[in-house]
Formats: sequence, C-alpha cells, structure tokens
Amino acid sequence: MENKKTITGFSKLSKRGKIKWIVENFFKNPETVMRELASYWHANEDQQKILDGFSENTISNFPMPFGVAPNFVINDKAYCIPMVIEESSVVAAASSAAKYWMDRGGFHAEIVGTVKLGQMHFKWDGDFDLLEEQFDQIKARLIEDTNPITSNMRKRGGGILDIALEKTADNLPNHYQLKASFETCDSMGANFINSCLEQFAQSFKSYMLTSERIPDNQRDVEIVMSILSNFTPQCTVRAWVKCPIEDLGNFPNKLKAADFAKKFKSAIDIAIHDPYRAVTHNKGIFNGIDAVVLATGNDFRAIEACGHAYASKDGQYRSLSTCKIEKNEFYFELIIPLAVGTVGGLTSLHPMAKRSLELLENPKAEELMKIIAVTGLAQNFAAVRSLVTTGIQQGHMKMHLQNILNQLETNEEEAKMVGDYFEDKTISYSAVRDYVLSLRTTIIQP
Ligand code: MEV
Repeated sequence: MENKKTITGFSKLSKRGKIKWIVENFFKNPETVMRELASYWHANEDQQKILDGFSENTISNFPMPFGVAPNFVINDKAYCIPMVIEESSVVAAASSAAKYWMDRGGFHAEIVGTVKLGQMHFKWDGDFDLLEEQFDQIKARLIEDTNPITSNMRKRGGGILDIALEKTADNLPNHYQLKASFETCDSMGANFINSCLEQFAQSFKSYMLTSERIPDNQRDVEIVMSILSNFTPQCTVRAWVKCPIEDLGNFPNKLKAADFAKKFKSAIDIAIHDPYRAVTHNKGIFNGIDAVVLATGNDFRAIEACGHAYASKDGQYRSLSTCKIEKNEFYFELIIPLAVGTVGGLTSLHPMAKRSLELLENPKAEELMKIIAVTGLAQNFAAVRSLVTTGIQQGHMKMHLQNILNQLETNEEEAKMVGDYFEDKTISYSAVRDYVLSLRTTIIQP
C-alpha cells in the first residue's frame, strides 16, 4: 500500500493540518481544493464549532439546499414545511400537491401509536419455564433499578411501559431477550432507551447471581447487547386525503377525473403487489419524508430502515400507501412508522433544525409525525399523478434544466434562449449542451 495514503494520529491534527494532509496526498491541485474547503466554513467561528461538534475529523461543511413547501393544510392548520433535499423537483412536487389538496379539504392525519422498543439480548443455558415463573418479580426489580433514569421521563408522562421475556428465535438455542416498550414523549428517546436497557442488563445479571430462586447451576448469564430497536411498528401515523371523484378535476392529456382515479389506483395496486415497483414507489414517499426528517434534525437512517422493514411486515416488500375508490369517493392513505423527536439530539443543537421547528411553530413530536407523514403522502401523490399523466421526465427535466445551465455556465441571455427553445422539446444534457454551443458559435461568428 502507498504510504502517503495512510496516517496515524490523523484525529489529533488541527483542522488545517487535516486538510493539508488530505489535499497534498489525494488531490492534484491542493491549493484550489484547500481554498474550496475553507470557503464552506461558517463565517461565524462559534457556529462552525457547533457544526464540528456533531462529528469527527470534520474538515468543512457539505451544503444542501434548504427549501420550503408552503400551503400544506393538515387537520385544518396551515403549514409551510421545511425540506432539505438535493433532488430537483421534490420540493416543487410537494408544493404542488399541497396546493392541490388545499382546495380539496386539505390533508388529514392521526397518530396510531407512539410505542418505542428496545432489546437486551442474553445467552443462558437454563430452564426457561423457571425464569418465566419468576419474571414478574424480575420485572419489578428492573423497573425499580431504572427509577433514577426514568424519573424525568415519568414526570413528562412517559417511561417504561412493559418488559417481556422472550426466546429470540427457534434456530438460536439459548438466546433470549428482554423486549421492553417505552413512551418517550417528545424525544426520539434513543439515549433514554439505551440507558434503561443497559441498567436492565446489570440488574438482570445481578438478580441471576443472587436470587435464591435461581439454582446455582443456572446462574451464569452472558449479556450479548442492549440496544433500542429502530423497528417501531407501534409508533405509527396515518395520513390521508379524500374527495368526491368529480372534484379531482381534469388532468393533462384530456384525462377525466374518473379515469385518473382508476389509473392512479392501478399504479398504487401495482406497487402493493410488485416489489420492483414498490421500492421506487416508496423511494418517492421517502423523498418527502427524509427531507423533513433531515430539516428537523431527526435520524433519517433510522426512519428509512424502519419504514422499509414495515413495508415488508407481511413477508413481501409492498407499497406503504394504499388507494380506494368507494361510493364515488377517492381515498389515498399512508400509514408509516415515524420515531421522531422535537426535543433533544440535534433538534435543538443544529441551528437550522431549530429554525425548521420554529417554522413549524414548534410542534410536539406527535404533530411532527403527522407533518412528516403528510409530506410523504403529498410527494407520493405528486409522483404518481405525474407518472400516470404526463410522465415524470417533463417536470423533472424542467427542474433539472437549471443544473444543466449551471454546469454549462450560461449567462442570463443564453439561459432565457434555452428556456424558450426547450419549452416544447425534450430536455437532456446533450440536447441543451448542443443548443448552447450552437448559440455560442452563432454569437462568435456574426
Ligand atoms: C424519483 O426520485 C421518485 C419517483 O421515482 C417516485 C415514483 O416513481 O413513484 C418519481
């Protein structure tokens, strides 16, 4: 291995030292790259320190567009929703769906549940029935020992809901777990849950070592790990829209409301039954969900992992949304698990996450769950509406045109001419590039 590409003590270097080592060893034009990395530092040193504090070995910031989608009416309340996303047309699609449903009664949302889960896994070669018999006593001890950890959460109305003793899997002999459920109120609750679980591990081990109800030859317990589960099928929210079919309006390509409704439902049904379509379909939902989750400083990896597991809960990966046409009514719904918080974690530390929450008028976690689910539903509606009418590329490439123009470094006049020329043509990078080149040659050769 080339020596210059590895280093010991990198984390101990200053930020400038880290950058110097990187640019000198990995880039052809170190000075330019160094200037570029520095150009993304926050102008305010204190703000930069906050950002650096979120991670390790930070050398710069990675900007992402922070957009907003106005006109979301959810349960009769209007929202302007913050979205952090780099894909063009997502925010435009959300805004367009928001406006569309605003004129048709708005979005509706309700919480189905807010239960979060955690597991303490252990290995033990003993009599499971014996443990089950005394589990009420064990549980009482676990709850009592975690009282100092749970006292604040209990004051806020949350805490440990229950603890169950379970065999982990038929094909894993001697593997057991304490599966605990929690209410974590407005926090996502990861730290709270993990602290409780680690205390369970200690208390359980000590019970097994000291209780006179445990035979001496069964005292030995191996704690494997204690960690929350990001699969939270009981922490879900339901979002929906509905209206009489005739109120759906008319659509491009002379599609009438009733035909649109049928075609739309077919598209959703395909995503329910065909996993290849379901993944793309759900990706569209997560275009909206991730953007709000990120903007509000929540953990989008946890939300994604959980959402996809939930989409496979009956053994096949399926659409997270469903559509019904009943008694002349169009009904479109999304049920999704969303373990998010509005206090703790990044939500109050990241300056822009704080602003996002302020823009949403500082919602409680349950309200944020509804807002996020609705954004996912809106995104899904907009994507499928395009797919079954004009096709996705028309809108997508129009939005992408700006990226192409930036890449080609067009001036204002060229950009306007490109806009006019491609009004009724298919946009692609090569078509735009060729047109811009032709403009430039015409201008250079009068
Ligand atoms: C693109 O980011 C998302 C879509 O592919 C979603 C879908 O196909 O439903 C348009």
